[in-house]
Amino acid sequence: MQEQGDASALAPLRIGVAGLGNVGATLVKILQNDGVELNKKLGRQVVVTAVAARSRSRDRGIDISGLEWFDDPVALAKSDSIDLFVELIGGEDGPALAAVRAALEAGRPVVTANKALLAKHGVALARIAEDSGAQLGFEAAVAGGIPVIKTLREGLGSARIGRVYGIMNGTCNYILTRMGNEGISFQECLRDAQALGYAEADPTFDVEGFDTAHKLAILASLCFGCEIAPNEIFVEGITGISQADIKVASDLGYKIKLLGIAQRSPEGIEQRVHPTLVPKSSAVAGVDGVLNAIALETDYVHELLLAGPGAGGPPTASSVLSDILDIARGTRVPPLGVPSHELTPYRQAPMRAHEGGYYIRLNAKDVPGALAAIASRMGERGISIESVIQRPDLRVSDPAADGIATRTVVLLTHETMEATVRGTIAQIASDGFIVGEPQLIRIEKI
Ligand SMILES: NC(=O)c1ccc[n+]([C@@H]2O[C@H](COP(=O)([O-])OP(=O)(O)OC[C@H]3O[C@@H](n4cnc5c(N)ncnc54)[C@H](OP(=O)(O)O)[C@@H]3O)[C@@H](O)[C@H]2O)c1
Repeated sequence: MQEQGDASALAPLRIGVAGLGNVGATLVKILQNDGVELNKKLGRQVVVTAVAARSRSRDRGIDISGLEWFDDPVALAKSDSIDLFVELIGGEDGPALAAVRAALEAGRPVVTANKALLAKHGVALARIAEDSGAQLGFEAAVAGGIPVIKTLREGLGSARIGRVYGIMNGTCNYILTRMGNEGISFQECLRDAQALGYAEADPTFDVEGFDTAHKLAILASLCFGCEIAPNEIFVEGITGISQADIKVASDLGYKIKLLGIAQRSPEGIEQRVHPTLVPKSSAVAGVDGVLNAIALETDYVHELLLAGPGAGGPPTASSVLSDILDIARGTRVPPLGVPSHELTPYRQAPMRAHEGGYYIRLNAKDVPGALAAIASRMGERGISIESVIQRPDLRVSDPAADGIATRTVVLLTHETMEATVRGTIAQIASDGFIVGEPQLIRIEKI
């Protein structure tokens, strides 16, 4: 029998890494310089023996001279010279998909950090993995260094989850935090985030909420045992959030966070991503900067909050390593928590009432009767207004095109239905008493 801790007793586990960027190069560096602890835990050496990337000559701060080089990640994935394939290329299709599929079809275990790939092809890839008997790990694909996938697949494997929500994009959280703390504009915060490497040159994917939606779709599948449905998510980003919104929210006891929320309802599963007013006293409100947090509401554990670094080379590589360790130890779990043939078809539920109601900011024409007309439209639809806020410092737009001045007004409503609020706002806009697009932010009592 092998003695635990004797790393030389078994043949080394040979890892092939495709993609040597931020995460891939960090992973190789950790395994080359700091693999001793992992080897001890496993009782076996873990070594990177082969790599693939586009440029062979690029300096990545790692020594690849002794490693087998592949120009083609698919060839690496298929190669019998490795025992486990790690995909860190990125992209929902293309070489990442081809390589992951090839490795799984060959019965070779795969670890990936690729949320876009998982959101689009997760169910199909899980099926291939189950058929071939290969394991598929993707801890790093959701919330970087936070072990939420393992928590869902194993720690909470027997729990019934009612709702999952959280901050899943560090770029957006960084921008909203700085807007709140320093009173600066969205654009200024975005520029700083880009300079610091927190935001891409093209930040659309992050700030418009699509990155959060990918992660939410994966989490929803693991939480509710349904197929992954990234295209069935209501998605709204943070580009419309102004200083006025942040200030009023703060005065009312709220912070604004971009949340991904998925919950069960009698009609199916509701998934949404949008800026949200959360009470300052809530746990997620305290998660600032580039950090992420995911809350899981369950039957018996009640609420569990996991918070930590959601991106960056070392935290993400750490999650990749934890998947490698699990697979090497022989842990066997269906990739999506339940066998893929047991996943229920996704049934989209309409957006329901929000316990906390709505924050509505609009520019009302400064004419007699405008506010009364707006309030009366709301009354007609049964929307009860909790407060109306008008302050001289809240001006967010120029006068109307017809020269009439406008006043920025914020209305807070009691609980009401999403469709009712949207319909009422459309009606108010067509009445001609407001200028520009009203800002609607959902309030979540969490
Ligand atoms: N960065 C994070 O904080 C983070 C967090 C969580 C998850 N992730 C996920 O981790 C994955 C990798 O992210 P990253 O930030 O490390 O990306 P990255 O820095 O852009 O690196 C991508 C790597 O893939 C290689 N590559 C691209 N196309 C290729 C091809 N056709 N054949 C072979 N190699 C190719 C590139 O090669 P060259 O270097 O030669 O160009 C590069 O080394 C993505 O799925 C991402 O969503 C990243």
